[in-house]
Amino acid sequence: MVTKKLDAINDYENSINIASEILKSGGIVAVPTETVYGLAASAFSDNAIKMVFTAKGRPQDNPLIVHIASIDMLDGITCDVPDIAYECAKAFWPGPFTMVLPKGDNIAESVSGGLNTVAVRFPSEKTICDIINTSGLPLAAPSANTSGRPSPTTAAHVIDDLDGKIDAVVMGGDCTVGVESTVVSLVGEKPRLLRPGAVTPEQLLKILPDLIVDDAVLEKLKDGETAASPGMKYKHYAPKTRAILVEGCSNSFVRFVNQKSDCAAICFEEEYYNINIPKISYGSKRDESTLAQNVFSVLRDIDSLGVKEVYIHAPSKEGMGLAVYNRLIRACGFNVVTL
Ligand code: TXA
Ligand code: MG
Repeated sequence: MVTKKLDAINDYENSINIASEILKSGGIVAVPTETVYGLAASAFSDNAIKMVFTAKGRPQDNPLIVHIASIDMLDGITCDVPDIAYECAKAFWPGPFTMVLPKGDNIAESVSGGLNTVAVRFPSEKTICDIINTSGLPLAAPSANTSGRPSPTTAAHVIDDLDGKIDAVVMGGDCTVGVESTVVSLVGEKPRLLRPGAVTPEQLLKILPDLIVDDAVLEKLKDGETAASPGMKYKHYAPKTRAILVEGCSNSFVRFVNQKSDCAAICFEEEYYNINIPKISYGSKRDESTLAQNVFSVLRDIDSLGVKEVYIHAPSKEGMGLAVYNRLIRACGFNVVTL
């Protein structure tokens, strides 16, 4: 299949119209959002959703997020929406925030991989909202990467992974947030944070004071344990090069990596000039939102360094740092060294 490249920077209206037509006729299109690029299909079309799973090589039991462009669109997609969900919507939508709610009758079975719940997000990025409104469709969209690879934050990342496997890519700018949305389940006894993102635990606790942080946010699932969020159980974001997450202060990190050979370091800006092995900075250690913007690009660049192992300096777990830490610990297959 030839993947159409729609230039949304220079020819916005046309790109939106073509993408909407493709989606209405049951095709699949990669679309920018404020978090990462998503691979969109009509949430009503079982067939289009199956094509999304195939293009990504995604396990069928890992459910998708349905994207909406107004709160009214919750009708039919969800049912029995608790009041607290509307309070969360008021606080965090549109934006990088996803709620798991009881599933309604209107959406395709394959969206939620057999679960009786559905994840819903109202993004803030104009491009995807305009496509939802023009097509009139809620859009099921996982991140537009090959399953297991780092999520795509630029149109080039999408093309690297999915060219020839999808109908079109809406080529917008780079994603501003850089890590996927915060996912909170509101179907259990207590609200549960399943995946950290740009909406931080500190912000969530103001609306959801009894929020529980799921163990899978920072720990590996134990054998036989079932994941509250199926996406948590898969190896994710990993470069081909063996990666190890390193915890410790800047001085210890610099000393540690400078003793290594045939290795590279992913470090903070503050450490860059003191490191004598191949290195990439992913931003200032004090600026978690920049670390989030860069983390997936850097994970994609690691393999081109041509080394045996890479040591990644772990960010703090404060604020958005938790989201970056969560992605990196998965990319490292839970391999952590504490200095
Ligand atoms: O920012 C984002 O959320 C991006 C953009 C495209 O919106 N999307 C995204 O989708 O990250 P994906 O499919 O890569 O991640 C969705 C996560 C997975 O971990 C999945 O298991 C979880 O949400 N999820 C989806 N539906 C769920 C459900 N019904 N119950 C629990 N977890 C669910
Ligand atoms: Mg993903």
